Parts: sequence; structure tokens; C-alpha cells
Amino acid sequence: MKTIDELLAEGVSGKRVFVRADLNVPLDGTTITDDGRIRAVVPTVKALADAGARVVVASHLGRPKGAPDPAFSLAPAAARLGELLGAEVAFATDTVGESATATVAGLDDGGVAVIENLRFNAGETSKDDAERGAFADRLAALADVYVGDGFGAVHRKHASVFDLPARLPHAAGYLIATEVGVLKKLTDDVKRPYVVALGGAKVSDKLGVIDHLLEKADRILIGGGMAYTFLKAQGHEVGISLLQEDQIPAVLEYLERAEKRGVEFVLPVDVLVSSEFPDLKTKAPANPTTVAADAIPADEEGLDIGPETRKLYASKLADAGTVFWNGPMGVFEHPDYAEGTKAVAQALVDSPAFTVVGGGDSAAAVRILGFDEKAFGHISTGGGASLEYLEGKTLPGLAALED
Ligand code: 3PG
Repeated sequence: MKTIDELLAEGVSGKRVFVRADLNVPLDGTTITDDGRIRAVVPTVKALADAGARVVVASHLGRPKGAPDPAFSLAPAAARLGELLGAEVAFATDTVGESATATVAGLDDGGVAVIENLRFNAGETSKDDAERGAFADRLAALADVYVGDGFGAVHRKHASVFDLPARLPHAAGYLIATEVGVLKKLTDDVKRPYVVALGGAKVSDKLGVIDHLLEKADRILIGGGMAYTFLKAQGHEVGISLLQEDQIPAVLEYLERAEKRGVEFVLPVDVLVSSEFPDLKTKAPANPTTVAADAIPADEEGLDIGPETRKLYASKLADAGTVFWNGPMGVFEHPDYAEGTKAVAQALVDSPAFTVVGGGDSAAAVRILGFDEKAFGHISTGGGASLEYLEGKTLPGLAALED
């Protein structure tokens, strides 16, 4: 994989460099609630601009349906990128149309532009190679060189991630190089005990990674909405908690395999429950009650791990040599259900282990809950991408940068 430093050494002055970033940040209206992904691409954009390139930054945001939709505009992200660079950033109101062509043509050496959300064009995500290829051809016309730095999207076989680098000389940006370096460490060079904390809503999203980690990890802690499918699989009633009944056979198989392999699987011993999902907008007090994990009332749902589980998980993380954490332990967006996620984050901060926070939601959680990013070994910008990497899958956006 050619690195951006090699590209810079060859000289990029006056060249139009297309940077595929992942500016898919959480928005509340037009307000960015966590700008981590924008900050993560700044070193690459800055290095190219400082070297005199004409930098064209592109990304997706959300999942619009292949047509322009103002709710998913990249304009707020472009403005934030400008603030972080301390420079003017031009914004094209389309992807490959008149605005993009004129905006790129108007760039001076060292100038930066952001083009509108790539997913406003159906060709970006099309399953049809020809349709994707046609969009990639139009994107290629905007640039002379391609730099892949949208780590969060490298698991997507999309036009700007997979097809475009085949059409232009290409290199990997600083973010991709860092992310791949860290995840490689988790696969090839693990200091033990290797403890994995997994949360988030759905077991089905984590099956592949659990399957793979059963061969690698020493201990797996389960929290978040997915914990209730594990508790149900163990024969406990979970009330109206999130449940993926169809995943129970897979979960049972994992629990059995973990036992055979000597992998310690740790489930919540108590949980915070309520009969109502909290209001995340008003954050009105939710007044949850704490119950044992095997005593969830029939008309209530579990929304966070309880105080005993917090202590238990902290103790299971304390002696780790390596930690990978993906997915919040509860509905951390509401203060009454944030303690579980905070406790796991704090245990990582207190640990001398090499700690990696993977995933959009857990990465956003540590920042929103006010933790110092520097207290963690690495905070990945990739949710699905880091999980798929750890599953051992070939990621289209990395494969495309290889040759
Ligand atoms: C993410 O948020 O994980 C990446 O930006 C990829 O987004 P996607 O799941 O919509 O492809």
C-alpha cells in the first residue's frame, strides 16, 4: 500500500487530490454532536494542502436514498473542517455536477473543497458494477490522484471507496495507516489477557466478530441491548427488553464454544430497568430501578447494566494486557442510563493495557461523556469497518489501495 508520505515525496503541488474521508458525523439538525471523524482526517488534508495540492474532500453522511436530501447535507461538516484547518473550505452543492466541476476548477494550489454527500448519487452504493463504475468515472474526472482515508467506510464496496482508486494513482492517508496498524496489533500481536467488551443493540451485528474473537480473546464481557438475548438464551425472562429470539441458537453455540475453549464469557448480573424507554430529547428523569439480571419484570426493559455489573466488569478489565471495546453498555445518551458505559470507559482509562475503542457509538460515547481521548490507546473511527477487519474479512476499500 503506497503511503501518503511516498505520495508527498513524489510531489503533489498543483495536482487535484481526491480524499475519500468518512465525515459521517452525528448531527442534531445541522449541529455536529461529535466531530471526531472530521478531526481524524485533518492531518491528511493539511499535509496535502501544505504541499500545494488542490484537495477535493468527499464523503457520505447517513443513508440518503440516492438523491439529494438536505437533511443529509455535508455543509455543516465542510464548515467544521474549515474551522479545524483554520482555512477557507469551498463547498460544492452537488457531487459530480456543475457546482463540483466549477468548485474544483476554482481551487488554487493548497486550496481545499468539500463536495456534497456522495450518496446523493445512486451510483455510489449501487450493487451494479456498471452503475457504480459510471459514477466512479465522473468522480475520477475531478482529480488526478486518489487518497483513501475514510477508514469508517472501507468495508463498503462503494464507487468512491472501491471503484475510484482503480481509476487513479492512489495512496493511503494517515488515518487509514494508523487504524490498520492498531487493528493489526489486535490480530497479530496481542498482550494477554485479551479482554473484549461488546455492547450495542443487536447481537446479529456482532456475530461475526464474536465468532472470530472466540479464537483470540481470553475474556468477553457482554452489555448493551444485545445482553438480553444472551440472558434469554440462558433461560432468564427479559421482560420487554430488546431481544433477537432468532439469534438464540447462535448465542448458545457461542457460549458452548467459549466454555470448551476456556474463554470466559461474562454477562450482566444486574440491570437498570423501566417500563418506558427514556426521552432522549428532554432527558426527563427516567427513575429506573435496579434488578437482578434473572429477575427482570415482565412489563419492564433493561436499559443499562447495573451497579454490581459495573464493578464486576471493571474488575474483569483491571488485569487486561489488551482491551477492545465496541458498543455502549446502555442507553448512554440519557444520564440515568450512562453509568454502565461510563464505568467501562473509566476501567479502560485506569488500565495499563493497550486499549482500543472501536465503533462509531462507543467512540462518540467516550467523547460525549467527557473522557479525554488521549487516555485511550486508540479510538477507532470505524464501527462496522473495525469489526469486519477483526473478523478477518477482506475490506474492499483497503484491497483497492493495495495494488
Ligand atoms: C459508519 O458510520 O460506520 C460509516 O460511516 C459507514 O456508514 P454506513 O454503515 O452507512 O455505510
